[in-house]
Amino acid sequence: MPENEAFFSDQTEQSATKAHIVSSYFTAWSRVIKKWDCRMAYIDLFCGPGRYDDNKPSAPIQIIQSTLSDPVLIEKMMFLFNDRDAANIESLRQEITSLDTGKKLSRVKYYTETIDIDTHSRLVIPRNVPVLSFVDPFGYKGLTRDLINKLIANSGSDCIFFFNYNRINMALSSNTKFDDHLAGIFGTERTSLLKAQLAPLSPTQREPVVIDALIDALLEDKSNYVLPFKFYSTEMLRTSHFIVFVTKNPVACKIMKQIMYTNSAKDNDGVATFSFEDSRNFAGSFSQLSLFDGPIKELERAMISKYQGQTVTVQELCDEVDCDFTNQFVSKNVTDVLKRMELEGKIAVVAGRKIKVRGGVPTMPKKATILFK
Ligand SMILES: C[S@@+](CC[C@H](N)C(=O)[O-])C[C@H]1O[C@@H](n2cnc3c(N)ncnc32)[C@H](O)[C@@H]1O
Repeated sequence: MPENEAFFSDQTEQSATKAHIVSSYFTAWSRVIKKWDCRMAYIDLFCGPGRYDDNKPSAPIQIIQSTLSDPVLIEKMMFLFNDRDAANIESLRQEITSLDTGKKLSRVKYYTETIDIDTHSRLVIPRNVPVLSFVDPFGYKGLTRDLINKLIANSGSDCIFFFNYNRINMALSSNTKFDDHLAGIFGTERTSLLKAQLAPLSPTQREPVVIDALIDALLEDKSNYVLPFKFYSTEMLRTSHFIVFVTKNPVACKIMKQIMYTNSAKDNDGVATFSFEDSRNFAGSFSQLSLFDGPIKELERAMISKYQGQTVTVQELCDEVDCDFTNQFVSKNVTDVLKRMELEGKIAVVAGRKIKVRGGVPTMPKKATILFK
């Protein structure tokens, strides 16, 4: 079956979650950016037809719907939709026209360009326009670091892209056939180094090495923050792809980390794996009982080692983890750990809290000041 036909038949749980993460981020991003004195844009370079065969809406449709429900966004938003398949673009155009019955959206542009290795040099983004972009190819063709960096260059701009781990991992095992595409993502030197590093490794050992190389490549621009979120294959329990969020803004990182946390599988202590566990692969699986010695214990150790003998507010501790993309914790994990540590006498709340227990549950407000004993 051709790639397009297979992909756009019934929407998988994985595709639904991907679209949900993108549209949830659009809602959060647009809420902040619409207060700025400027236009704002959504750029979708591999947009697809808008709906799956079962009529479920994809990310572009969800984003158009949320724009149409907000008069400020109707006024400010510009849209660029691209797909090299003209039939997909025509279908999306019709979908959008049928939603925008009052013809309120005046800045929607459609293109049928083929995105390739040098698209970044042809893409023109007006200065001072914050952009949320979605780069969602089937494979790796057209996905380049230069493109991502261009898409996030303007202030207030963030990019979400699809990283086809399965295919990229295969390309990394090949001779030199795909090296130009791989170099577009990882850089030339990193690609040869990565291939040499991967050669002796088992399939499970390869995955963190590939993802670390991707993060390293994106962090060559030191102001970037990078958050990957993993999906498993629909057919079997094996990694299929990641969606990766890239931004220069710590607050944007914090917002997306929270959205990914909400959509992620979690252990018994509420620590996220930053992956989506679909019902086919994970039906009937149960999480292991934890006696508080899982990853969350690392969070306790890290806080003790940094703050022993010092005072700090809960808000500061929460901001530290929320804006840190190198760990899997979010503010809820911090407040959970602090509550347990208080019960164990390892910390004391010395200010900023009026009620210690509400409805039988200990409280840990963001304003509270903690003394690490
Ligand atoms: C994974 S699908 C995108 C799905 C879409 N984001 C959604 O949520 O429904 C990839 C799309 O990219 C288009 N495409 C594939 N290669 C392309 C290229 N090099 N340039 C532009 N579009 C391409 C395909 O026609 C297909 O519609």
